[in-house]
Amino acid sequence: MTQASMVEPGGGAAGAVALATRGLRKRFGHQVALDGLDLSVPSGVVYGFLGPNGAGKTTTMRILTGLVRPDAGSVELLGRPFGRGDRRRLFEVGALIEGPAFFPFLSGRENLRALAATGAPTTRGRVDELLALVNLADRADDKVSRYSLGMKQRLGIAAALLSSPRLLLLDEPANGLDPAGIAGMRETLRALAASGTTVLVSSHILSEVQQLADVVGIVARGRLVREGRIEDLLRAEGSVRVRVAPHEIPVAGPALEGLAGVGGVALEAGPEAGWLSVRFDPARSAELNRALVDAGVFASRLEAGSNLEALFLGLTGSSPDVGAVSGGPGSGAAGAAPGPGAAPGPGAAPGPGAVPGWPA
Ligand SMILES: Nc1ncnc2c1ncn2[C@@H]1O[C@H](COP(=O)(O)OP(=O)(O)O)[C@@H](O)[C@H]1O
Ligand SMILES: [Mg+2]
Repeated sequence: MTQASMVEPGGGAAGAVALATRGLRKRFGHQVALDGLDLSVPSGVVYGFLGPNGAGKTTTMRILTGLVRPDAGSVELLGRPFGRGDRRRLFEVGALIEGPAFFPFLSGRENLRALAATGAPTTRGRVDELLALVNLADRADDKVSRYSLGMKQRLGIAAALLSSPRLLLLDEPANGLDPAGIAGMRETLRALAASGTTVLVSSHILSEVQQLADVVGIVARGRLVREGRIEDLLRAEGSVRVRVAPHEIPVAGPALEGLAGVGGVALEAGPEAGWLSVRFDPARSAELNRALVDAGVFASRLEAGSNLEALFLGLTGSSPDVGAVSGGPGSGAAGAAPGPGAAPGPGAAPGPGAVPGWPA
């Protein structure tokens, strides 16, 4: 929400990039995990690394922490190239990948102390500071075996922060957390970003990322398919739903296409039949209305929406996800989406171009 100019392409005053990958490739046998991945993560933001299972998120994070070697491509970390020999620079990166591993018979505090003794040099008092940050101070002396999943996850975040990294990588940290746990984690990560730490969080659930991240990168099949500020993506993928009488559709469709471009208007099917879905910035919906009036058509309804959910599902080829706070399949509007207006439910809005011609 700060640093608005950060991801402007070619903008002279672009902010610093905490992490960039270029052409990252990795295959396991003949399974391609990364197929030329280009990420640009601005400094000091929460970056949502979004993609369905198998998209290559964990592989990317393992490369970024030196656990896996890429077949090709490069990584730039905190302004400098990051190579194999740079083990010591790993202290600049904190990571929590595929669930934390702790000694269950030790307390949370003892676990962090043990890690601090073997890892990067840490300041005195760092352990207590972190226990407070992740809201575990009053349970710090309980054995980890008595921690809930959410508490273990928070202890994992504390562990990843021991060396005061400037970049924090968290692989699906919301997995298995209840809504309260997710809300708590969101607060912790927002606070970290506000204090200047860059946080990269992976997830396969759009609604989760939408509430947490400043910038998102959507990956599918080992490639980046969209990247940008979440509000820009929502605007760019914005849609306006227009209701006109069925016999007016052959006139309304082309009139709307005049503004939205060829393929920018689709006739919704199924239970939402009769609505036209127009790929257009909802803030400019009055222009659509005028175009209709000019064509002699009076819309009975105009609604703002966002196609980010549909876009995500379409791009990734995944099935609708039941996010932690989403209304679930069949609930119509995606209740979890904080985007402008009501998002059409998955399946309700066919992608642009779904209706090539207009029924006569
Ligand atoms: N160690 C491995 N051996 C074989 N295949 C792997 C290995 N790690 C990942 N893959 C494959 O690479 C692809 C990307 O996996 P992954 O990075 O775990 O995706 P994500 O974290 O987005 O779910 C998947 O098809 C997965 O099966
Ligand atoms: Mg994964």
